[in-house]
Amino acid sequence: MEDKLTLDWRPHSWQSRNAGQQPLYSDMQAVDRVLAEIHQRPPLVTWGEVDRLRTQLADASRGECFVIQGGDCAESFDDCTAEAIANKLKILLQMSLVLVHGMKTRVIRVGRLAGQYAKPRSAEFETRNGVTLPSYRGDLINRSGFSTEERAADPLLMLRGYEHAALTLNYLRALIDGGFADLHHPEYWDLDFVRNSPLEAEYRRIVDSILNSLSFMETISTRPISEGYRIDLFTSHEGLHLLYEQAQTNHVAETGRWYNLATHFPWIGMRTADVNGAHVEYFRGISNPVAVKVGPGMDTEHLLQLCRILNPHNEAGRLTFIHRFGASQINERLPAMVEAVQRNGRQVLWMCDPMHGNTETTASGIKTRRFENILAELEAAFALHAQAGSILGGVHFEFTGDDVTECTGGIRGLTDTDLERAYKSQVDPRLNYEQALEMAMRIVARKARKRSAVS
Ligand code: PEP
Ligand code: CO
Repeated sequence: MEDKLTLDWRPHSWQSRNAGQQPLYSDMQAVDRVLAEIHQRPPLVTWGEVDRLRTQLADASRGECFVIQGGDCAESFDDCTAEAIANKLKILLQMSLVLVHGMKTRVIRVGRLAGQYAKPRSAEFETRNGVTLPSYRGDLINRSGFSTEERAADPLLMLRGYEHAALTLNYLRALIDGGFADLHHPEYWDLDFVRNSPLEAEYRRIVDSILNSLSFMETISTRPISEGYRIDLFTSHEGLHLLYEQAQTNHVAETGRWYNLATHFPWIGMRTADVNGAHVEYFRGISNPVAVKVGPGMDTEHLLQLCRILNPHNEAGRLTFIHRFGASQINERLPAMVEAVQRNGRQVLWMCDPMHGNTETTASGIKTRRFENILAELEAAFALHAQAGSILGGVHFEFTGDDVTECTGGIRGLTDTDLERAYKSQVDPRLNYEQALEMAMRIVARKARKRSAVS
């Protein structure tokens, strides 16, 4: 059985459209061999999981739960280590704990991980000391070192990408199944992260309050609450490299639909969201929940066309718009978009990415983001949606579980000069674990202020 919608669609249909941000390979036979191999390998996720996420995103669009999506700007193969993976999971869990406690709502956790290996670049080439080479496009495509060999697009890296995604996902699933995220498991509450941090007392208060509620519930129910309790963790990445995504696209006989089984929740980046372009064409045919980044270059008609093409049945949970206007532009741009979507009765889950519209360069040439601007955009997003009678159903962050200094501000007041101390990102600056946790606490504090203003 085939869904009528995709009768005119195949995983390769996008190839007749203009595809931005794709690598140029010198040996297409090698590319075909790699893609054939990836296609033969088992999928990374299952269609049942993908469908479950879709249902949960529909709940989020109605305000019945809240999505937290986050992880590195770009994962690197070198960072595929037990420690880095566990730290990222830990910060995602801790942020969601703060949100669950403060917002009194279910939280859906989506990692920017297990496949976030390809990056769109604003410049095709990079010049250093008079030498010009292709830009680094992520570990899936080429290497970050600055030599001709390293910057050449290497098809084998797609295979390495699939394998590293599998290794990452395998470890994440083992951590979760092994109890890492159980409410009674000490790792979940581990305060190492926040020890000696100004946030320690507040985090401890939250943990104590949850543990108290748990023990109360267990006393009256006479059995451990965490029994049978299992957290969900979904994966997401920018579906940028279309040959790679195509190789992991499968037809599922049970549902009669096509799925991208490389990830649960792929998104279209802002630079490749052209309605006539290859990315929108590819995304149209897969039945995963899909997201599109929405930024200053787009108008309301663009959004409505995306709704019509990507969500023709107007189903809740299918389409998410992740807006990223920057603190200085959100007030001016978001309301018209929300209004157009409402007026046309379009089902959309709105999320805010307060990172990508707030990137700037310091006097000494370092790419950074200011904590105040990130928070300001987020606060504006909550306020604007509330004013419009719409719902901000989730947030999208770039963070790492490590103690980097890439964004300024936050409770330790990192300055431009601190950036040199531990700047590791090859691409965009990320919140460190402390800034990420603080961000979650600030979101919750805002909600609490609103609640007390109402009562
Ligand atoms: C990203 O999410 O890393 C990114 C490049 O975002 P955008 O497409 O919104 O610029
Ligand atoms: Co980024």
